[in-house]
Amino acid sequence: MEELDLVKAKIIDLVKEIGDARSLELLDLLATGKMLRSKLVLKIAGTTNESVELCAVIEMIHAASLLHDDVIDESDTRRGKPSINALFDNKTAIMFGDILYSKAFTQLTTMPSSIAYNISNAVTLLSVGEMLDVDLSKEFNNSYDKYLDMIYKKTSSLIEASARSAAFLVSKDEESFALYGKNLGIAFQMIDDILDITQDSKTLGKPALLDFVEGKVTIPYLLMWERLDAKNKSKLESMYKKPLRDEELSWIKDNMNETKALQDSILLANKFGMEAIEVLKDEDNEDLKNIMKSMIGRSF
Ligand code: FPP
Ligand code: MG
Repeated sequence: MEELDLVKAKIIDLVKEIGDARSLELLDLLATGKMLRSKLVLKIAGTTNESVELCAVIEMIHAASLLHDDVIDESDTRRGKPSINALFDNKTAIMFGDILYSKAFTQLTTMPSSIAYNISNAVTLLSVGEMLDVDLSKEFNNSYDKYLDMIYKKTSSLIEASARSAAFLVSKDEESFALYGKNLGIAFQMIDDILDITQDSKTLGKPALLDFVEGKVTIPYLLMWERLDAKNKSKLESMYKKPLRDEELSWIKDNMNETKALQDSILLANKFGMEAIEVLKDEDNEDLKNIMKSMIGRSF
């Protein structure tokens, strides 16, 4: 998608404006992601200077949040490449995150105030979401509601705000597009959590079942736990947050299949995906439908 190159160029321009050579060097080391948020914004609002600028701001905020997340998660890789904290150190990752994040906010102040409000409010939510994620990773969490609230805030809030802001730019119905973004975001994080289990570590660029080892009880584990008897519930809990031996790894995967927890997690992600599309049924939404479908069907 050539439009995404415009977004990348805009990000480089904004970072150049900072006038700091080191920031530009670090920007060059960031692996480009799927740019889901930009794809959404451009599909909803078309490609204009304003929409490209909005995408650049959102991608910079997203990149900043991942720089900080990799420090928090002590992750050595990001999108199959070494993370900035692994290449340099935590300090560099945090500071570069701060630079990207604050430059994006400076740019936001030049944009319509409702966009500035929506996006900055989403950043508060995603920061709260990250804190909830860390807190929920301290002890085995068996609450679906807490999980759902956390993934909404951590991942979905910025996607929701992106879709809402894009709709605002072209005077489309903000509420419908926001709801589309919200449900798409929840489906997106669920798929991410499922891929941690189904994909081999090479494709993902991180070790398999890492979430559980790190204390994250994601949707497939939640559904599996609910369906196990008391003895096996305890067995699963005893494996929580520890390095897994091969037989433990197989036990988890086998039970996830036998209890249909994995299958039903995929169905649940699909349900959120379908709800996303349902809100837009009166709109010309073929492209947005396709974004949802390829997101659900993705393998990394
Ligand atoms: C990835 O989650 C993390 C997020 C989507 C949000 C992180 C947010 C912050 C660190 C708040 C700070 C925000 C700013 C703008 C400075 P994950 O660890 O589940 O996903 P992963 O597997 O891709 O790492
Ligand atoms: Mg992480």
